[in-house]
Amino acid sequence: MLRIAIQAKGRLNEDSLELLSEAGVSIENGKRKLLARSGDFPLEVLYLRDDDIPQAVSMGVADVGVVGLNEVEEKGFDVETVHSLGFGKCRLSLAIPKAEAYDGLGYFNGKRIATSYPAILSRFFERNGIEAEIHEIAGSVEIAPSVGMADAIFDIVSSGGTLVTNGLREVETALHSEAVLIAGRTLSEEKRQLLAQLLFRIEAVERSRGMKYVLLNLPHEKIPEAIRILPGMKSPTILPLAQEGWSSIHVVINEKELWTKIEQLKAIGAEDILVLSLEKMIR
Ligand code: PRP
Ligand code: ZN
Repeated sequence: MLRIAIQAKGRLNEDSLELLSEAGVSIENGKRKLLARSGDFPLEVLYLRDDDIPQAVSMGVADVGVVGLNEVEEKGFDVETVHSLGFGKCRLSLAIPKAEAYDGLGYFNGKRIATSYPAILSRFFERNGIEAEIHEIAGSVEIAPSVGMADAIFDIVSSGGTLVTNGLREVETALHSEAVLIAGRTLSEEKRQLLAQLLFRIEAVERSRGMKYVLLNLPHEKIPEAIRILPGMKSPTILPLAQEGWSSIHVVINEKELWTKIEQLKAIGAEDILVLSLEKMIR
């Protein structure tokens, strides 16, 4: 049995559960429960505050966890970062009242900065030779300047909406963060294997992101040209059609180049093009 800690509520909760579900691990709706079991994978989910996840994993209360890199870096507990998950992207930035003139990091010398991330901020200031007063506050950091508690803030920025609403302007970024899968350093062999299995599934889901499965019909003699249009992919599957002289081509195409490729394929005579979404790519 592998125990995974995920955020009980907040920006990572839904994406974490969705990732598990795409990996074929369904969890009974555990919103009210602290601990929930999966029916189809030897996994149980422990719902925690994101701030507590690194410690829970380092102590072995949970074997693995999904949490923002920002929390891992801030808390400094000894955990292994196994995999970056690509969601929950945000940055930790310094922001100042928007009317203030800003001429570089030296601005912060002697200033009071409110933040929930004092460790990351003090390392950032140290690296850059800035001496400022760091005020740790637990929440509502963004209102600190307007109520006179601080001159500036250091906080999570995602869309930037919170800063705008509070008349603040982002001036420096200290850390780019996203959700990561972390693991304890002393997992048993059985748990290591479950983790490897889970990771294998997660990677299959990730590979399929942004990929489309394309089927099209093409006259036989156009196949070499079609293969030239579709370089970089393993050789496409080619099946003969009942209709004399025609083949069906099946290929996986990245969404980004989907329309360009389709236009090129149409130009050489491709017909009946079907684009399907792709769930998993297993290697
Ligand atoms: C963060 C941060 C801001 C907001 C920024 O809080 O403290 O309030 O998100 O997001 P935006 O740029 O999209 O407006 P969050 O909701 O993550 O809660 P937490 O920091 O208490 O975990
Ligand atoms: Zn938090």
